[in-house]
Amino acid sequence: MDKDRKLIIAGNWKMNKTVAEALDLVKGLKRDLSQVKEVDIVVCPPFTALSEVSREIIDSNIRLGAQNMSEHSVGAYTGETAAEFLKEFLVRYVILGHSERRQYQKESDALIAKKAAAAHAASLRPIICVGELLEHREAGQTQTIVDAQLTGSLAGLSSVQLLETIIAYEPVWAIGTGKTATSEQAQEVHASIRAKLADLYDDNTARQVRIQYGGSVKPGNARELMSQPDVDGALVGGAALDARNFSDIINNSI
Ligand code: 13P
Repeated sequence: MDKDRKLIIAGNWKMNKTVAEALDLVKGLKRDLSQVKEVDIVVCPPFTALSEVSREIIDSNIRLGAQNMSEHSVGAYTGETAAEFLKEFLVRYVILGHSERRQYQKESDALIAKKAAAAHAASLRPIICVGELLEHREAGQTQTIVDAQLTGSLAGLSSVQLLETIIAYEPVWAIGTGKTATSEQAQEVHASIRAKLADLYDDNTARQVRIQYGGSVKPGNARELMSQPDVDGALVGGAALDARNFSDIINNSI
């Protein structure tokens, strides 16, 4: 690989997997991926499986992520989960502003920025998701939308914090649809994201930030996507629910 940024490939399990199913899946991943050193591997189970999955992967090369967290610290916020609680399970990453949360929970860029600040305060690495709808792409507004999401979601983050932040570009029209962005489309947006980061911070910082692609990543398209100069990993949904598929994505990306 000619990139100096280490690949990071994360599985977003979304609202899937009971505890027993989650354990089955990570046992399979441990078996298939124990030799992998070239990629940071992250699994993001639902909250209910974090404890057991954490125990199962403790001595492995697989790291734990959560799918969301509160912008608040502990307190009277019924139904919410504070970063401090995630830390109890040795969670290292947290997905913020996934398009499904932007759509169903109406999460705004301003809220995502607050969550990112809370994540950094707890030394969790946020994976901040951005991406356009099909109508935006068709109207030629992809870059405008993504730039606005970046500006809003990263508001207040220092460059030191940005270096501990991962950006996930997930075009909404490619999520769960089987329609992957072509590697050229992904590279084009990733390069524009890096340019925006250089604009918001500086060239050197922007060059080091890892930018994942998400949206119908599969074993068959992973290598081509990951070989693009500005694509530094993947955020995988459906294909991360099966040990063989997720392992093949990782092995095919090395
Ligand atoms: P799919 O891989 O199922 O398209 O989902 C992508 C995603 O939303 C990952 O966060």
